[in-house]
Parts: sequence; structure tokens; C-alpha cells
Amino acid sequence: MNTKHHWEQVYQTKAADQVSWFSPHLQRSMSLIRDAATQPSMSIIDVGGGESTLVDDLLQAGYQDVSVLDISQAAIDVTRARLGAAGQRVTWLAADITQATLPAARYDVWHDRAVFHFLTETAQREAYVRQVLRSVKPGGHVIVATFGPEGPLQCSGLNVVRYNADGLHSTFGDAFALVLSNTELHRTPFGNTQQFVYCYCVRA
Ligand SMILES: C[S@@+](CC[C@H](N)C(=O)[O-])C[C@H]1O[C@@H](n2cnc3c(N)ncnc32)[C@H](O)[C@@H]1O
Repeated sequence: MNTKHHWEQVYQTKAADQVSWFSPHLQRSMSLIRDAATQPSMSIIDVGGGESTLVDDLLQAGYQDVSVLDISQAAIDVTRARLGAAGQRVTWLAADITQATLPAARYDVWHDRAVFHFLTETAQREAYVRQVLRSVKPGGHVIVATFGPEGPLQCSGLNVVRYNADGLHSTFGDAFALVLSNTELHRTPFGNTQQFVYCYCVRA
């Protein structure tokens, strides 16, 4: 089964709050994005946003240039419908982040929670980092959260790569200066916890 098919099936068969990564609000992500995006006009992309409420919260906070990318059209359709008229203010991108053609130097803030860790092949990770380098403005902010060293080995039945902060930062390379990192224990809707590592970097 290819990746797109997998995720389309997930979102066609599960409610938004019945997936392990669901949280009513991505508070850690939102807090870091607020630190990074100091002006409402700054452009923000949520990569692999799925059906998360982060986009709702970004619009509510007054951000005017928000993009959501996901490999699953079903996830985008659900999220856009949930937002109603407010969804017209969002740029929706249905694409695989390792293959998408994003505009150059377009984004001030890149956010990814629980997507990068699915890239188990070196070539995929290299394509992702090339994408960040191309589409994030010089001096732009990159916030990536993956499962930490004590996190699960799989998510949604797919293998993941777990990272500590140094490992995640070094995978991105010297073009990214680490601003801060921290861990979070995510409580799933099913009552167990998962360790996440957040890295916040500035692109040279
Ligand atoms: C575990 S979910 C996390 C969703 C959301 N970021 C959150 O924190 O609630 C992973 C998301 O990444 C998307 N995804 C997986 N691989 C992708 C890829 N190669 N390109 C773009 N999106 C991808 C999936 O469709 C899914 O919505």
C-alpha cells in the first residue's frame, strides 16, 4: 500500500478525535509558532496538518497567511469543511511533502508535528530538508516535532524513526541553528502517553 492510499484510508474511516495523535489543541506547537511569528502577516505552513485544529487556532489568533499541506485530500476536505467560511482564508495543498513543488522562499514559519518521523529512508529525509531549504525564507523558523527516544516505534501501523533533539537537529544539518528543543508527553484519546521531541530552528 502506498503512503497516500494509507492516509486516505485512515481519514476516510476514522473520526478526527479517534486517532492516536489527536489533541483538542496543539498547545506546544501554538506556543512555539507564536514565538516565531511575531507579526500576523507572517506566512505559516503546517506540513502534514491532517485534521488537527492548529489551523483553526492560527486563524483565531489573527494570522493572515496560513497554508496547510497534507498528502490526504480527505483530511484537507474535513478540515476545510470544519472551518466553514474561514477556510477560504487558508491555502490548501494536497501533496506529498517529499515531492511537492512549493514556492521558493515563501514561508516565515514551517511547522510539522508527527510527519517527518514517517520518513524512514535517507532519500525521503533529504528531499524533505531540500524542501525546507527551498521554501522557507532565509532567517525563517522551522518547528518540527517527532516521536522522542522513548516514543512508539510505529504510528498508524507505519514504522517511524525516533529522534532525540541532537539527532533531529543534525538530520537537518548546519544550515539550521537550533533555538530550543523540548519534550512533551502526549496523552492519546485512548489513555496512553507518547513522548514527542520538539526542535525549533532558524534557517540560515
Ligand atoms: C500522525 S498525523 C499528524 C497530523 C497533525 N500534524 C497532528 O499533529 O495532528 C501525520 C499526518 O501527516 C500526513 N502525511 C504523512 N506522510 C506525508 C507526506 N509524505 N507528505 C505530506 N503529508 C504526509 C498524514 O496524512 C497525516 O495527516
